[in-house]
Amino acid sequence: MSKKNILILPGDEVGPEITTEVIKILDFFNESKMTNISYEFGDIGGASLDKYNKPITDETLERARKSDAVLLASVGTPKYDNNVRELKPEHGLLVLRKYLNLFINIRPIFVFNTLLDYSSIKSDLINDLDIVIIRELIGDVYFGEPRGFKDVNGDRVGYNTMLYSESEVQRITKFAIDISIKRNKRITSIDKANVLECSQLWRQTVDRMMNDHNDINLEHMYVDNAAMQIIKNPKQFDVILTPNLFGDILSDAASMLTGSIGLLPSASLSDSTGMFEPIHGSAPDIAGQGIVNPIAMILSLGMMFEYTFNRQDLSKLIKKSVDDVLQSGCFTKDLSKDDFITTSEMGDKVLERIKKLC
Ligand code: IPM
Ligand code: MG
Repeated sequence: MSKKNILILPGDEVGPEITTEVIKILDFFNESKMTNISYEFGDIGGASLDKYNKPITDETLERARKSDAVLLASVGTPKYDNNVRELKPEHGLLVLRKYLNLFINIRPIFVFNTLLDYSSIKSDLINDLDIVIIRELIGDVYFGEPRGFKDVNGDRVGYNTMLYSESEVQRITKFAIDISIKRNKRITSIDKANVLECSQLWRQTVDRMMNDHNDINLEHMYVDNAAMQIIKNPKQFDVILTPNLFGDILSDAASMLTGSIGLLPSASLSDSTGMFEPIHGSAPDIAGQGIVNPIAMILSLGMMFEYTFNRQDLSKLIKKSVDDVLQSGCFTKDLSKDDFITTSEMGDKVLERIKKLC
């Protein structure tokens, strides 16, 4: 493998703890010459606010752009909850997504069969579950202008703009089509077209794109119904194509099918680069206690190998090792309240398994 360089952003709260575990694996791959990836660190979110009074600096953005991929742990800390928007930790993440043009967000929802009984959903509804959520990541009400606060007849108002252009919908739909062709040729597109113009444009654009793909089974679903269907019968879905805001909400809901949000990775892609991060947030309530589950972060490393470095061998190796460790009955506290191993023990177990399988 030719020499690559990645930027690691540990971020806030549990972020540094899960980063430590992923680095153990990366170091092993490098030491055993399976990869040649140098890495440097940067700050984002509260960690960046602490040092620079900004949730991300221009220098970090530039380093992210120059690297072959970005590995990010988690962003957000209550310390800065009352800051104005531009000075909130999460703003750093949104600026970075936009700066790198990461319009594609891939959130695979799969169940490790050992964990069937850990989900709050009956096991026959989720065994062998394998869904992928394709979330548009840099448009919608997250970024729409105008936005802000104003005074209307003496009443303070907060407002945002939900907005999509045809070209934005087209490029994410194209990606969903390509993925669905490699899978089961089934797409469920999410909107709220019974109420919102933005969703009507979304639906019309998806329909037009699908005219050339009669072999793909497309269904449109209102977001409220989708939230219900994901819980009621998750296996009806294969590829879920969704705007930014609805995707944010549905992916948290879908993650619960799998037993713990601490298990799921994600990839955010542009046409030329990628950022990889767990779906879960910074979990301030458990930070610093050595109990966070590092698996979502470890699997995010796997997604980096799959999508940016075309090393399916390594992504499969990582996933298989995680599966084996879970099968051996080792769980972090999110999955097993009374009998659990620590974050770092989990990292060591996965690494040990990787070494055995190599
Ligand atoms: C996510 C997160 C982010 C989002 C936050 C941290 C800005 O919830 O990646 O799902 O809303 O996109
Ligand atoms: Mg979210």
